[in-house]
Amino acid sequence: MKLFLDTASIEEIREINRWGVLGGVTTNPSLLQKEAAEPDKVWRQILEEVAGDVSLEVTAPDADEMVAQGRTLAAMGPNAVVKVPMTPDGLEAGTRLVSEGVRINVTLVFSPAQAILAAEAGAYIVSPFLGRVDDVASDGMALLRSICDIYAVQGYETKVLAASLRHPMHVVESAHAGADIATMPFEVFTKLVKHPLTDIGMERFQADWEKLQHQLEGEAST
Ligand code: E4P
Repeated sequence: MKLFLDTASIEEIREINRWGVLGGVTTNPSLLQKEAAEPDKVWRQILEEVAGDVSLEVTAPDADEMVAQGRTLAAMGPNAVVKVPMTPDGLEAGTRLVSEGVRINVTLVFSPAQAILAAEAGAYIVSPFLGRVDDVASDGMALLRSICDIYAVQGYETKVLAASLRHPMHVVESAHAGADIATMPFEVFTKLVKHPLTDIGMERFQADWEKLQHQLEGEAST
């Protein structure tokens, strides 16, 4: 399972990128709004910074404008993936873009039925929003498992991207369910590396290493 950052912050992307495990990035209009910068500039910077796929979302209200916007976004880089919403206009725009060879990510998916539509539209990625399903007292992980099962039975090649992840166990369970990609905010990504026993182990090794240096210094001076 590839690990993506869900952000439009270039600082966050640089921090995780140095770990060597960043598979790609997803952005959306809300994440861009947080950066308060020119979206074009931000998108281009992210596309250059990241080797993997970067999802850039259309914001136009109807299919014709989504297609025009999608073409522009796709032309920004070979790793650009165009995000279209799971709406009738989004599907129309998406299938038109797919027929032109554009890779699309169908976003705002909340049901298995919508995920089937995304696959039939020839989407490269489908994005079920697990956390937002949990937010309305439903089971986001059950939704993900259902989509992964249906895709396996049907042999759909669309990649399943577990989105709206809120904590490390969402990531672990997404891997168990068979998601191809998990996208998460910086806070969740940084939590993946943390374990108290790792910190305690590091402190102990460091202390023993220093003790050894003192022992050797003592032996050398006698
Ligand atoms: C995915 O592509 C979305 O940008 C994202 O995961 C949405 O997450 P949220 O529900 O935390 O806003």
